[in-house]
Amino acid sequence: MKNIKKFALILAVIMMLGMLTGCGQKGTSLKDIQKAGELVVATSPDFPPFESLQSDGSVVGIEIDLLNIICEKLGVALKIEQMNFDSVLPGIQAGKFDLGASGISVTPEREKNVLFTDPYCLAAQAIVVTADSPITCKADLEGKAVSVQTGTTAESFCMANGYTVNSFEANSDAQTALTSGKVDAWVIDDLTAADMVAVYNEENPGALVILPDAMTTEPYAFAFSQGSDDLVSEINKIVAELVADGTVAEIFANNNAPYTAPEL
Ligand code: ARG
Repeated sequence: MKNIKKFALILAVIMMLGMLTGCGQKGTSLKDIQKAGELVVATSPDFPPFESLQSDGSVVGIEIDLLNIICEKLGVALKIEQMNFDSVLPGIQAGKFDLGASGISVTPEREKNVLFTDPYCLAAQAIVVTADSPITCKADLEGKAVSVQTGTTAESFCMANGYTVNSFEANSDAQTALTSGKVDAWVIDDLTAADMVAVYNEENPGALVILPDAMTTEPYAFAFSQGSDDLVSEINKIVAELVADGTVAEIFANNNAPYTAPEL
């Protein structure tokens, strides 16, 4: 009898701890999405070539192409929910959406709160300046004002490095902060920098320059709420297949972006 009481007490404590840490969260299972017939994806479509908004309201890009194939293989429809980047991970953590896709970098901090698939590519943070800037490398950023997008790894990296950080909800506003002279540099993921700078320089030839110094190396992956383990392992199998058979590289090429495979 005594032992049973002891056991019940230990069980209760374990359950309480689980609730406190969020370990007891159910997550999304493969069955759940197949029953619903759709995969609900949270995204911030201001991040070409990974996801961007078309004038007709549709979202296109590398991650959308990838997710369309994944959904086809899972036998479900792809449903896209648009939001600011800094709402994507909290929404996933709270279990509001099935999958987060936003060129999300895997970091140890984020891994405490959400589950990630294996990465499907590698990216880096780039420094963008105006053509007349005295800043030519990372070391020149010391004591300078930089613009970043709110909630991104660029933001945490620049804060940790002691730069004066100006954060913006929208990527385009972080870019405007640079072009309007409010900040000395704009820090953003390399492929998005290449895409947005190319578009800007079409109208303003040579105006913006991407420095060759990369600040970080960051793997991109899809995010899920805790407890979604079986869905994550199912999607991992598909992603591994698509990386191995060259489909991911082909998707990057179709979106005019160079591909760096993850170190698996
Ligand atoms: N890779 C960076 C991060 O995970 C930036 C992602 C921004 N994504 C976006 N869709 N705006 O923090």
